[in-house]
Amino acid sequence: MRRAERRGVQVAGGCALRAIAIIQDEHRTLAAVLHGLLFLVREIRDRGATPDFALLGSMLHYVDLFPERFHHPKEDRYLFALLRTRHPPAGPLIDLLQNQHEIGAEKIRELDQRLARFREGGTAEFPAFADAVEAYAVFHWDHLRREERDVIPLAKEHLTSADWEVIDAAFAGHTDPLLGTDQGVGFEALFRRIVDLAPPPIGVGPMR
Ligand SMILES: [Fe+2]
Ligand SMILES: [Fe+2]
Repeated sequence: MRRAERRGVQVAGGCALRAIAIIQDEHRTLAAVLHGLLFLVREIRDRGATPDFALLGSMLHYVDLFPERFHHPKEDRYLFALLRTRHPPAGPLIDLLQNQHEIGAEKIRELDQRLARFREGGTAEFPAFADAVEAYAVFHWDHLRREERDVIPLAKEHLTSADWEVIDAAFAGHTDPLLGTDQGVGFEALFRRIVDLAPPPIGVGPMR
C-alpha cells in the first residue's frame, strides 16, 4: 500500500473528521465549565458575590468526572495508544499528556478539599480555593492546547483509516458501555444542570 493511501485523514475522511470533532467538542464543554468556575471565583473575589456552593460543587463534580471517567480513558486507550504505535517519536509527548491525566486527578482531589474547607471555614479559606481553581484552569488549558496543537495534527498525519474508524467508534460511544452513550447523556444532564443553576453570562439561572 502506498504511503499516501495508508495515511489517515484524507483516506478516513468522515471517520477522522467526526472523531476529531467529538474530541474538540468535549474539550469545548470542559473549557466552558472551567470558564464558569473561574467567573464565579472572580465574582466572589472582586465583587463580593455570595458563593453558591451547590453550583460550585456541581461544576467541580463535572470537571472531576467528565475527564476522568469519560474523556481521558478514550484518549488513553484509543487515540494515544494508536498514535504511539504508528509514530513512536510521539512517545514522549504522549507520556507527558498521560502524566497530566494522572496529575489532573490529584489536583481535583485538592480542589474538592479546598471547596469543603471554604464551605465550612468561611471567607478565610476562600483565597486558597480561588488560587487552586486558577491554577487548575491554567493546567488544564495547557493540556487541551497540547492535544489540539500537537497530538491531533500528528494523528492526522500518521494514523490509518482503520485507526480512525476505531477512534471514531470509541468517541462516538459505540465501543465501551462504560464510556458510551448512556454516560454521555448523564454528563449532558449534569452540564444542563450547571447551565440552569449558573447566573448570566455563564448560564440561564437567576441573577444574584
Ligand atoms: Fe487529555
Ligand atoms: Fe483531551
